[in-house]
Amino acid sequence: MASDPVHTKEIAETFDELAHDRCCKYKSKGLTASTEVLLGLLTENGLVGKTLLDIGCGTGFFALETLRQGASSCIGVDLSSVAIHEANEFARESGLQDRAKFEVANAASAQHAADIVVMDKVLCCYPDADSLLKTASGSSSELLGFVVPRDEGLMRPLIRIGTGLINLVERLRRTGFRLYLHPLGSLDRLLVDNGFQQSSKAKSRFWLVFLYKRTEPDMPERR
Ligand SMILES: C[S@@+](CC[C@H](N)C(=O)[O-])C[C@H]1O[C@@H](n2cnc3c(N)ncnc32)[C@H](O)[C@@H]1O
Repeated sequence: MASDPVHTKEIAETFDELAHDRCCKYKSKGLTASTEVLLGLLTENGLVGKTLLDIGCGTGFFALETLRQGASSCIGVDLSSVAIHEANEFARESGLQDRAKFEVANAASAQHAADIVVMDKVLCCYPDADSLLKTASGSSSELLGFVVPRDEGLMRPLIRIGTGLINLVERLRRTGFRLYLHPLGSLDRLLVDNGFQQSSKAKSRFWLVFLYKRTEPDMPERR
């Protein structure tokens, strides 16, 4: 699709279809292991009283969980309008709607301002990691956490085969959705160039969880 090289419509449609099931899964099983790790890193580094931006928030359960753990307010953005609808419903059901705002947006171009920014399994769904991470880093005044496939060490061949198979199925289904394994070194360089340093790295079976801290103030013109 020449007019949309990053396939935002196809990504939105893919997650529109999955939104309801993902919300039900969270309600019956709770957070996944990697998401628990991300939440743990945030609480260890001071979540209480902070504002949070959840990029690619899906149905909003992580952002709402951070409110239960003491964050003061949260904003969630996602390309999927169905996921955002579920997130707003879930916020109301949980009585957290006054501190939570969910909106449809492409986070690669829509900048917000928050103390903490997270992207849980989002970079792997978007081709232009540089734009997404640059906008995310410009939105964060303190911490930036993200979860990406465990594309290193002994897990690398398995992750690469799994990603290849998923992309083959998507190609056969003629969708524009693909999974991406962005080089970890490039993500690190971009964040260092934008004033962050890695402070923690943890893993679950299939995922790596990173936490970066801002070491240099953001340039006013980027905010
Ligand atoms: C694998 S899901 C993860 C959802 C949620 N973070 C979780 O862990 O359950 C990836 C989400 O990122 C969203 N997404 C991908 N690229 C995005 C972008 N550029 N802007 C906003 N949302 C995006 C997708 O619509 C999808 O809901």
